[in-house]
Amino acid sequence: MLSLRSVSKKFGARTAVSDVSFEVQCGEFFGLLGPNGAGKTTTLSMIVGTLLADSGSINLEGAQMNPSAFGEKSKIGFVPQETALYEDLSANANLQFFGSLYGLQSLPERCATVLRQVGLEDRAADRVENFSGGMKRRLNIAVALLHHPKLLVLDEPTVGVDPQSRNQIFDTLEQLNRDGMTIIYTSHYMEEVERLCSRIAIMDGGKLIACGTKADISKLLPDLNLLALTFAEPPPADLLALLLLKYPDLKAEETVVTVQVANLEVDVAWITSQLAGKANLKAIRSDESSLEDVFLHLTGKGLRD
Ligand SMILES: Nc1ncnc2c1ncn2[C@@H]1O[C@H](COP(=O)(O)OP(=O)(O)OP(=O)(O)O)[C@@H](O)[C@H]1O
Ligand SMILES: [Mg+2]
Repeated sequence: MLSLRSVSKKFGARTAVSDVSFEVQCGEFFGLLGPNGAGKTTTLSMIVGTLLADSGSINLEGAQMNPSAFGEKSKIGFVPQETALYEDLSANANLQFFGSLYGLQSLPERCATVLRQVGLEDRAADRVENFSGGMKRRLNIAVALLHHPKLLVLDEPTVGVDPQSRNQIFDTLEQLNRDGMTIIYTSHYMEEVERLCSRIAIMDGGKLIACGTKADISKLLPDLNLLALTFAEPPPADLLALLLLKYPDLKAEETVVTVQVANLEVDVAWITSQLAGKANLKAIRSDESSLEDVFLHLTGKGLRD
C-alpha cells in the first residue's frame, strides 16, 4: 500500500527526519512509535502529502506521493495531532461542511454512517464546543472517514483522552481494520501500539531505529529471560548465596527475587529443586520484554521523558 525509501526532511539546520524507509502492507494496522520530537508528525505530513520530502521517495499504491498529488491524497484519511473542527457548529454541520469540500454524493447518509462508526450518532446535533476532548477526537476521526479512504493515518489520536473514550477509539479503529482499512497509528504510548498494531516502526531523533512485528523487535534485545520469584517470607541468606553463585545479577527485595536466566525451562527446574524444604515459594513469573525495554536498549533512554 505504502512505501517510504530513504526519506529525509530538514527544517533549516535541524534534521527532523533522516533516511527513513519502511513499508506498510494492505490491511495492516501499522504503528509509528517515538518520543516527543522523534519526527513522527513530519513523517506523516510527508505521507499524506502536506509536506514535501527533501530527498527520498514515498509511494502510495505505486504512485509517487507529493503535495500536488491530489488523486493520491484522496485515498488517505488524515487525523491530525491537533483536532481541526469548527467549535460553533454541530457535529453534523462539521461533517456536512467537510463532506461538501470533497463533493460527496448522498452526504446526509454518509454523515450518519461515520457518526455511527465513531459512536457519536446521538450527539449529531450538538455543538462541538460542548464536546469532551475524547468526543472531539472521535469526530475528527469521523471527518477523516467521510470520503472512504483506503488508508487512515492518525497522529496521536488519544492524547488528553480519558480511558473510556480511548477504548471507544480503539474499538472503532479495530473494527475499521477488520473491515479492511489500512491504518497507520502514531503514538508515544508503547502500550497502545503493542495492543493495536501488527507491525511497528520505532523512531528516535528523526531516525528509524527498529521496524517489524513485536517479536521481530524483541529479538533486538539480547536474550534476557527475567524470572521473578515471590516467596512467602524473605528467603534465608544461605539460599540467596546459593542463587547468587549461579545468577550473579540476582536482585533481592524483601520477598521478591529477580534473576536473569539462560533457559527458562531448565532454570525453573533447577531453582525449584534447590528450594525444596528451604523456602516457601509462592509464585514464579517470567517477564516478557516490552517495547519500552527495546527502546531503552537501543537509545539508552525511556520513551517518555
Ligand atoms: N515546521 C517546523 N519548523 C521547524 N522545525 C520543525 C517543524 N516541524 C517540526 N520541526 C522539528 O522537527 C523535529 C521533529 O518534529 P515532529 O513534530 O515531527 O516530532 P514528533 O515525533 O511528531 O513529536 P511529538 O510527539 O512531540 O508530536 C523536532 O525537532 C521539531 O522541533
Ligand atoms: Mg507529532
